Amino acid sequence: MKLDFSGQVVAVTGAGSGFGRAIAAQFADLGARVYATDVSDAALSPLKGPNIETAVVNLLDRRASAQWVASIAESAGRLDVMVNNAGGVMGQAHKPLETVSDDEWDRVIDINLGSAFALARAVTPVMKAQKSGAIITISSGAALQASLTGVQAYCSAKHGVLGLTRQLAHELGPFGIRVNSVAPGFVRTNPATEAQWDAMGPDNQAALMRSIALGRLGTPQDIANVTVFLASPLASFVNGQIISVDGGK
Ligand SMILES: NC(=O)c1ccc[n+]([C@@H]2O[C@H](COP(=O)([O-])OP(=O)(O)OC[C@H]3O[C@@H](n4cnc5c(N)ncnc54)[C@H](O)[C@@H]3O)[C@@H](O)[C@H]2O)c1
Repeated sequence: MKLDFSGQVVAVTGAGSGFGRAIAAQFADLGARVYATDVSDAALSPLKGPNIETAVVNLLDRRASAQWVASIAESAGRLDVMVNNAGGVMGQAHKPLETVSDDEWDRVIDINLGSAFALARAVTPVMKAQKSGAIITISSGAALQASLTGVQAYCSAKHGVLGLTRQLAHELGPFGIRVNSVAPGFVRTNPATEAQWDAMGPDNQAALMRSIALGRLGTPQDIANVTVFLASPLASFVNGQIISVDGGK
């Protein structure tokens, strides 16, 4: 089967960088009409093209997030795939639990878990009305075990994203809506992952490489490929699943 998303409408968050940019570009290459968002218009500019529309939305603002989804449904008339990718450690690194502030905890939970909840809630009436849809969360290896980052809120949020994915798969499956998650391993995509990589030092970098059966780090394209698969008819009976994309740990 040749994948073809012509006529389909896809929304991608965190599309200004890393995985989100690769996911948006991949869907557009496969014919979808893509709505891509991030906090920075400059970050989104490399994506602009005939079938990609970009919008600046701060996903910590749930009302603005819902308005973005509503505006897509209004202009495109449907929304087939929602990729909840935006997230990360929000510039944080590990520090002892007793020194973590409420604000640090809340910001990481809000962007990773709160935005996935708010966007899924916003898109559900649209997908229910069309009796079909796919919601894909980008979780992490940190949804399944302790996080390499050491950031407590990040590990907790990603475990929460996995719970949300499984729960929504059961709630929304009867309406023809599938909900699945991609769990990437460590990929060098941004200043935070560069800082993590540098902080590991040569010995831990080598140990990380040895722990990956395929012997290399992943790329944003590796993550985009599995995201597209989960959105495609090839995955039409896949629901409530988490697929690790980590080269085999
Ligand atoms: N890179 C990795 O090693 C790795 C591993 C596992 C999981 N992940 C997850 O994959 C997703 C993407 O990771 P990435 O490495 O591509 O990250 P990235 O930092 O390169 O991209 C994330 C994007 O989300 C956007 N974003 C952050 N806060 C936002 C907000 N409030 N509103 C709107 N957009 C916002 C950022 O501007 C950024 O462009 C994240 O959820 C991350 O937690 C990454």
